[in-house]
Amino acid sequence: MENKVLKSLADEFSNIHLKSFNQQNLRFSSRFIFSLLINPQISYIYKKNKGFCIFSINKEDAEIITMAIVPKYQNHGIGFLILNELEEVLLKYNCKKIFLEVASNNLIALHLYKKVGFKNFGIRKNYYKILKDKKVDAILMKKVVNLKK
Ligand SMILES: CC(C)(COP(=O)(O)OP(=O)(O)OC[C@H]1O[C@@H](n2cnc3c(N)ncnc32)[C@H](O)[C@@H]1OP(=O)(O)O)[C@@H](O)C(=O)NCCC(=O)NCCS
Repeated sequence: MENKVLKSLADEFSNIHLKSFNQQNLRFSSRFIFSLLINPQISYIYKKNKGFCIFSINKEDAEIITMAIVPKYQNHGIGFLILNELEEVLLKYNCKKIFLEVASNNLIALHLYKKVGFKNFGIRKNYYKILKDKKVDAILMKKVVNLKK
């Protein structure tokens, strides 16, 4: 895809990120998202103006780098839809496992990831700095592709 197209996509994704993440420190800039999108190992699923997921594929392992849904569309099942679509994509690429990291206070994301079959396998203490003097743990999760809940 042309850089111009990727730049405008990065702007759209960054806008959605900005709206959907409460904690300023967790938001991705357009420049950073562009640097992800130009990497050939990185791909995305986009529901126009509603939400997206950026993920990487490295041989048999995939990683969800970020995912965000515009607030007014949250809790409408779009995240669930995207994660199911992601799994179909990963099956085609013969990926065996999906990994992700999520902040321990992100109850909606934790609920969704568990619902689609992700399991905790570790924790990074005080990994995310969400405020000047507040940090939260990162929960490490993984899922075997196509292994239903
Ligand atoms: C996390 C996020 C991607 C989920 O996408 P979504 O489209 O809102 O998710 P869905 O509608 O598919 O599912 C949300 C689930 O959380 C549940 N939920 C809502 N509020 C909740 C709460 N306070 N605690 C626990 N679960 C909650 C909903 O009931 C729903 O579960 P159900 O389908 O079993 O009823 C989205 O909310 C978002 O963009 N959040 C801000 C950015 C973010 O945190 N990204 C993830 C970073 S790892």
